[in-house]
Amino acid sequence: MKAKAKEISPQELAGIIRRHPRVVALTGAGISVESGIPDFRSAGGLWSRFDPMEYAYIHAFRRNPAKVWAMLKEMDALITGARPNPAHYALAELEARGFLAGIITQNVDNLHQAAGSKRVVEYHGNALVFVCDTCRGCHPRESLDFSHTPLYCLCGGLVRPDVVFFGEPIPPAAQAEAEELAQHCDLLLVIGTSGEVAPASYIPAIAKEWNAVIVEVNLEPTRLTYSLTNHFLQGSAGKLLPLVLQDL
Ligand code: APR
Repeated sequence: MKAKAKEISPQELAGIIRRHPRVVALTGAGISVESGIPDFRSAGGLWSRFDPMEYAYIHAFRRNPAKVWAMLKEMDALITGARPNPAHYALAELEARGFLAGIITQNVDNLHQAAGSKRVVEYHGNALVFVCDTCRGCHPRESLDFSHTPLYCLCGGLVRPDVVFFGEPIPPAAQAEAEELAQHCDLLLVIGTSGEVAPASYIPAIAKEWNAVIVEVNLEPTRLTYSLTNHFLQGSAGKLLPLVLQDL
């Protein structure tokens, strides 16, 4: 275990960004907390109310879809009611000004795109898109009546959000694009993720292998802070990222 990463200020992060021409961001649920979407593992997070073993695994959804739809409907209400926060807008502005090559997000809330980010790799899919679990046919969200769940496709299969449940693979295209971004960046901003869930948690290690500097933005240290991270900017992303932008 290495010593904890060096703590830096928003101004110092602006200087680091200016000195690195190929910056990529890896984001997790923490960046959307200030948009009203709870994260998963902080106190009061989603997994403190829904046991992931019973709600987040694909076999749990297939075995008891009515039960899992209770969580899916709660997530859908949170996501459709959420708006981007200053952290999302700051990353979109960094991209627009040429300081950010792309975002690899673990989030399924579409908030990076809503904030104007163009290159977004949806590593765990998008909860606003619905597909059939059997035939993969697309079911537009506006065609679905959530008052009668579970929902079924004409083929008889279960309709589900196009997200990656535990026990499912990462979409190959997303995995390939994420690895390409991680291998070619020289600075990886790891924002609002606990780094607990593989294979997304391997992305900082891939970037590090390709000599990238790793900077974490998080309310508190994570497992990465004592292993891979070079610099740690502690605090809320919604407050800190606009301050970084001010200094660029
Ligand atoms: N600003 C910065 N960081 C924050 C903020 C904030 N306002 N609020 C919370 N955080 C941090 C927490 O300290 C924590 O380290 O965000 C992190 C959220 O961690 P998790 O809840 O584990 O979320 P995440 O890392 O995205 O989970 C990864 O696990 O359950 C699966 O598929 C799900 O994509 C998710 C994956």
